[in-house]
Amino acid sequence: MRDVQRVAIVDPSDATREELRKVLLGIESIWLEAECARYEFFFDVISQSSPDVVIVSLDSDQNKAQTLIGQLAQVSPDLPILAASSKGDGQAILQALRNGAREFLTQPVVLEELLKALQRVRPRADAHQNGEANGRGGATPPVQQVISVLGSRGGVGCTSLAVNLGATLAQQAGHSVALVDLDLALGDADVALDLMADYTLADVAMNVERLDMQFLRRSLSKHSCGLSLLPHPVQMEDIGLIREDSLQRIIGLLRASFTHLVLDLSKSFGPTDVTALRSSDVILLVAQLELSSLRNVVRMMQTLNNDAQLAEKVKVVLNGVGGETEITLKKAEETIGKPVYWQLPGDAKLMTESRTQGAPLVLHAPRSKLQLSFAGLAQALCGKEIQAPAKEKSARWGLFARR
Ligand SMILES: Nc1ncnc2c1ncn2[C@@H]1O[C@H](COP(=O)(O)OP(=O)(O)O)[C@@H](O)[C@H]1O
Ligand SMILES: [Mg+2]
Repeated sequence: MRDVQRVAIVDPSDATREELRKVLLGIESIWLEAECARYEFFFDVISQSSPDVVIVSLDSDQNKAQTLIGQLAQVSPDLPILAASSKGDGQAILQALRNGAREFLTQPVVLEELLKALQRVRPRADAHQNGEANGRGGATPPVQQVISVLGSRGGVGCTSLAVNLGATLAQQAGHSVALVDLDLALGDADVALDLMADYTLADVAMNVERLDMQFLRRSLSKHSCGLSLLPHPVQMEDIGLIREDSLQRIIGLLRASFTHLVLDLSKSFGPTDVTALRSSDVILLVAQLELSSLRNVVRMMQTLNNDAQLAEKVKVVLNGVGGETEITLKKAEETIGKPVYWQLPGDAKLMTESRTQGAPLVLHAPRSKLQLSFAGLAQALCGKEIQAPAKEKSARWGLFARR
């Protein structure tokens, strides 16, 4: 799981403190280090607990709260302070920010707003390390990534890619990865992972208004490789429950609690698929070196190119490469008018075995050529080294790569 942020709160009102406490306790990446009911004791409390972030509620006593913020900012300038109030008083907000608060939260605190604020005050040490490690000094990919896997026809390998990429990413220290099956009618990510889930996307969507992190986390099923799954609805009739606005909220919350989110889309290019594409950082458009798939890539690129924000996220991935009757890579790139980002070799036997056993290749065949290529793809997307299984360290990770 991601690095934990230790939070201390001060709020003399039992009611609002309890409310804030409940929201914080539901966030996995948060450790509620200390709670304090008196402004004048808060200095002592934090000197004993050394939190990463503090939240100061203004409403019980504006003057005391503002003074406390000012003193905290002076004594601990590196400690991010979040001011909170239910009053929407512009002057008080301004004063808190001038006194040294970094962020302002409206009470009752909305989960997404709190997560965003906590994310903004999180030190960027990990990104800094990446920048140095890859020698690009700064322009690093975000730690949080939402990756859509979009197919150019049925059976092109989207679920295989989503599951194996997700599993590969999930094996890395510091990563937490969730896969959402958005092939709402016919998805089979649960089968590929051999998971009997208690909850599905339909349960989450039905409760979307009162969704909190604890409920959302309980709704996910975890595979032994570390990958968490939110499956598609069991009943076909429940597909209608997955509205675009609900999906957007679900993706937003998952984005905030996992380092990587992989979305296995349907082949219908429907409203939920488009919502997923818009919420993604990367769109992996999966194709094969044959006519109907490549023709659909051209058609899909024409549509995606109408929206510059979507078009720039698209990376074409060829799956099952190596057959005898294939169109050449050169011809494929000329046809689609775009370089191919990654090629995954074909290995029908291995893929069938892995799917039948519900064991992603990173567990089933970690040294296979196909898994090395998934690892290379994961590495290319993350912009940082993916640790290979012990004996693989010298293997050529960029296998089949063309970037
Ligand atoms: N790289 C590959 N080499 C060989 N067979 C593959 C490969 N990737 C996927 N397959 C096989 O292709 C079939 C369709 O894959 P799937 O991932 O379900 O596609 P989609 O989700 O796009 O419909 C499955 O039988 C799977 O085992
Ligand atoms: Mg599929």
